[in-house]
Amino acid sequence: MKNIPIKLIICKDKSEVAKKSADIFADEIRNNPSMVLGLATGSTPIDMYKELIRLHKKEGLDFSKVVSFNLDEYLGLAPDHNQSYRYFMDNTFFNHINIKKSNTYVLNGLSKNPEEECKKFENAIKKSGGIDLQLLGIGANGHIAFNEPGSSLNSRTRIVDLTQKTINDNSRFFEKKSDVPCQALTMGIASILESKKIVLLATGEGKSTAVKKALNGPVTSKVPASYLQNHIDCTFIIDKAAALKLKG
Ligand code: PGA
Repeated sequence: MKNIPIKLIICKDKSEVAKKSADIFADEIRNNPSMVLGLATGSTPIDMYKELIRLHKKEGLDFSKVVSFNLDEYLGLAPDHNQSYRYFMDNTFFNHINIKKSNTYVLNGLSKNPEEECKKFENAIKKSGGIDLQLLGIGANGHIAFNEPGSSLNSRTRIVDLTQKTINDNSRFFEKKSDVPCQALTMGIASILESKKIVLLATGEGKSTAVKKALNGPVTSKVPASYLQNHIDCTFIIDKAAALKLKG
C-alpha cells in the first residue's frame, strides 16, 4: 500500500516549524480559496495559527470561502467550556481570521446522540468533497487525533476512551486531573488517510521517540502515526529536538 515515503522537513526550532507550515497552508489557500482544511488542536500548532493570522491581517490571506473540519473533541464538554476544542479553535484561530463560523465543523461534545454526531460529521466531510489538507500533531504515545494505540486502520469518526498517558499529558490544561474527560469523539485513521495531503507537526524532545517510530518503524496499530506511511502525500515538519532520536 505504501507508495511514497513520508517527507521530512527538520527545522532549527519551533518558530521555523510554524513559519514553514503556515507557508504551506497559505500557498494552498491562495491556489484554492474554497479548499477544505482539516485542523488540529494542542499546543504544537498554536504558533502556526498565529502566523496564519498575521498573513491574514498583513497580507490579506483570505479564508472567506475556506471550510474546516477539526479532528476531535472531548466527550461531555460544552462548546463554550474553556477546555473544549471548539473554544480553543474559536479563540486561537477562527475569531482572528475571516472564516465563516458556519463553515467550521467541530464535533459537538455535548451531543445527545454521539454516534449520530459522528455519522453526521463523516457525511459533512463527504458532502464538502473531502479534506484537501489535513494538519496533525502527534502524541508522545504515537496517537494522531484521539486515535490511541490499538486503533485500527479502518477506524472512522467514533467515540473513544483516552489512555492514561493522554489524560496525564492533557491534565496540564485542567485544574485537576479528575476534570480531564476520559472519552472523546475523534476522526478515525481511515477518515484521516482519505485527506488528499497531510502535514504533521512535532516539536520538542518529548515527541522524538514517537516521530522515529512513525517514520521508520513498522506500520502498526501500536503507533497509530505509523499508518501515515500508507499515505501518498504526507510531510512531517519537526524541530531539531523532535528529530533527536532519528540520528544513528
Ligand atoms: P500537543 O498535542 O500539540 O499539545 O503536544 C499533540 C497531540 O496530542 O496530538
